[in-house]
Amino acid sequence: MGYNAWNAFQCNINEDLFLTTANLMVSLGLKDAGYHYINLDDCYALKNRTSSGAIVEDPAKFPSGMRSLTDKIHAMGFKAGIYGDSGWYTCAGYPGSFQHEAQDAHTFFDEWNFDLLKFDNCAIPYDDIIRQGIIGKYQRMADAIAKVARPIVFSLCEWGWSQVWLWGAKLGQSWRTTGDIGPDWPSLANIINFNAFITQATNFYGRNDMDMVQLGNGGLTYDEAKSHFTAWALMKSPLLIGTNLSAITNDVLGILKNKEIIAINQDPVVGESISPFSISSDYPPQYWSGDSQNGTVFMLLNTLNETADMSFNLTESPWIRAGRKYSVRDLWTHTENGTAVRNFTAKAVPPHGVVALLLKDAGDEPDGLYPACSVWYQCIDKNGTHVGG
Ligand code: GLA
Repeated sequence: MGYNAWNAFQCNINEDLFLTTANLMVSLGLKDAGYHYINLDDCYALKNRTSSGAIVEDPAKFPSGMRSLTDKIHAMGFKAGIYGDSGWYTCAGYPGSFQHEAQDAHTFFDEWNFDLLKFDNCAIPYDDIIRQGIIGKYQRMADAIAKVARPIVFSLCEWGWSQVWLWGAKLGQSWRTTGDIGPDWPSLANIINFNAFITQATNFYGRNDMDMVQLGNGGLTYDEAKSHFTAWALMKSPLLIGTNLSAITNDVLGILKNKEIIAINQDPVVGESISPFSISSDYPPQYWSGDSQNGTVFMLLNTLNETADMSFNLTESPWIRAGRKYSVRDLWTHTENGTAVRNFTAKAVPPHGVVALLLKDAGDEPDGLYPACSVWYQCIDKNGTHVGG
């Protein structure tokens, strides 16, 4: 969890922006909420390396130097992240690290003292130069990071090329699974839908990175913004705020600081993502569940353009025990919503809106409910009779 300046500022960055941002992260309560990384993105460097091949920070943007900036960020209790590229150039045309991996790792971690590297995928060398394939291209920096004496978070920014979710965990702690997020519902729907197929790749050892949290940059309704944050958090993506904090609204701040949603993202016991459970052709899926240290999490996503009631049978989720009833906690209204027996209906979910629930076992269900199975398909009495349906 942290901050990344790219979505709100692109190349319009300088040291004042990062210090102001770090101060706002504290004064707005975001640091206390768990956002502990301040990450630079592209465009911090000069276009040319020095004569000895080193990357240098742009002195017009960072007049006090990078080490001074990370010292100040660290002194405020944050970790600091830097950006690089596995090819010849970064995506905005600054020096990439290909064939400079060890030298750049030295600059980033020993000289500048950063704690995290986001490593991008632009300006890829020809096959007859690289000869190692795309995994090998990232392996070079992973090897350089392995030689650093302290732990460094390696965040692969490979946009899902070469099925990075199958091998990313061997090299780093997170991997971008999809292209750059846009501040609108179709972009969110695309990212959620794509990641719905690869939820198994995420766990404590590494995370599907669904890209920055794109709140407050225009293009999303309040309900869409809640859906965005809920999906990213419950699918266990990194949560990197991409908002101009000097202009943040109370609505966006309230979403980013939802403690009950963050608690699922940061669950110290269960590392898995939620996954879709109801088989249908919804795009993206509407019904999701997953395990957590405190109960079963449900996410209901109204992908329709109109208000809808959303219902499901509890035991469609594999985390629910048959024959039991469950207390229902709403993670957005922060209220207890009674006890669910067999099924649950969320009334009037707004278009592109979300409901996030935590269900806890509350004992046996009442006797004598009929049909004998709430999910009737193949429900059989011991005498062989089909029951219900
Ligand atoms: C790529 C990445 C973005 C951002 C830009 C910077 O597009 O996916 O997240 O880092 O490069 O140029």
